Amino acid sequence: MACCHYFAPSEGGDEAFSIDASAITFGPGVLREAGDHAASLGVARAALMTDKVMAGLEHVAVVKAALEGAGIDVVVYDEVRVEPTDESFKAATRFAQEGKFDGFVSVGGGSVMDTAKAANLYSTYPAEFLTYVNPPIGGGQAVPGPLKTHIACPSTCGTGSECTGIAVFDLLSMKAKTGIVSRFMRPTMALVDPECTHSLPKNVVAASAFDVLSHALESYTALAYTRRKAPARPSLRPMSQGANPWSDLGCREALLILGRNLVNGVNDPADTQARSQLMWAATLAGIAFGNAGCHAPHGMSYSVSGLVRDFQPNGYPKGEAIVPHGMSVIVNAPAVFRFTAEACPERHLEAAGLLGADIRGATERDAGEILADQIIQFMKSTDMPNGIRGVGYNQDDIPDLTEGSFPQRRLLDNAPRGIGKEELKGLYQDALAYW
Ligand SMILES: [Fe+2]
Repeated sequence: MACCHYFAPSEGGDEAFSIDASAITFGPGVLREAGDHAASLGVARAALMTDKVMAGLEHVAVVKAALEGAGIDVVVYDEVRVEPTDESFKAATRFAQEGKFDGFVSVGGGSVMDTAKAANLYSTYPAEFLTYVNPPIGGGQAVPGPLKTHIACPSTCGTGSECTGIAVFDLLSMKAKTGIVSRFMRPTMALVDPECTHSLPKNVVAASAFDVLSHALESYTALAYTRRKAPARPSLRPMSQGANPWSDLGCREALLILGRNLVNGVNDPADTQARSQLMWAATLAGIAFGNAGCHAPHGMSYSVSGLVRDFQPNGYPKGEAIVPHGMSVIVNAPAVFRFTAEACPERHLEAAGLLGADIRGATERDAGEILADQIIQFMKSTDMPNGIRGVGYNQDDIPDLTEGSFPQRRLLDNAPRGIGKEELKGLYQDALAYW
């Protein structure tokens, strides 16, 4: 294994890491297996959660038919909000409580899967909404125990939400993105059908693929788990436990696949092989970041998406300003990896090599620049926005972007270098434009 010393013991640091993963079934057509899996897990009455757009598409019909074919009582909830809020989580919870379901099936992107997790949580263990939300915004109380069965069926190749116990939402009263994190919220099973990616618009595949790329790069370069303070009790070991030998496996393979397939998979809808490979990379990176945690590109993305003014990318619903999650992440990534490289240059250089960069003769001093250049090359080849200026921000926005992201300590503290306010400002400055 490269750079074993990355996990060298440290004073007061953790000495063990945990491996948590959803049960995953991967392959073309697996959505049709939903009924048999749900029945074998004891589900008799399922809430099928999706959003308004997905509700009209074939995937939802396939899953519904499969569930009904297995004798399961199904009620569809298509009110999931893309970029969910506390209000939309509460509405889904009311539906879940009134419906007296014994299982949840989600079909859609991260918003849908996260909403199903929250509805499952609050209908199983009712509590005042902020009880389980991450501190300092919420109470951070531990989820009391296992939830009901949740089968997650991702429709895009990006979020990895099917593999994690994280649900992200906007808290409207504070205009802040935050989340709920618990091992118990990880879906019971994920059905990952690569055919779902074949009909997606280019920009949707691009945003998803760059999210995957950043999941893998952030998990691979995250602070080593041995440098995170040991938990007071073993059961309190966080899911964002830092880079570890298990997450490394998924990251390396995901980076190799992305290096070979990202540009083709985005640009050529006919290249279904490349798109299927992106779905597999998303699954691998999802398992990895679910066990290691992301860091600064994701931490910085919260204000990049939250403070959006008028950016409207092609391929997304018209009339609504939005910076899709993957874009809000990747516009920060080159700046971050230039900055973090000095903490673990060998990992940055290895990642660049896996992505296809020529690292012959490169020294550790070049690591950050080489990795940043490789990401920028991918961004240019797929018409991604040029840094945060490309999604509508300028120099004057840097203080607000910084204030908005600075509280994201779970993410920022998982970076291999310390990030205070000055460093964060510097990162946004460097992320303004790359070419
Ligand atoms: Fe992400």
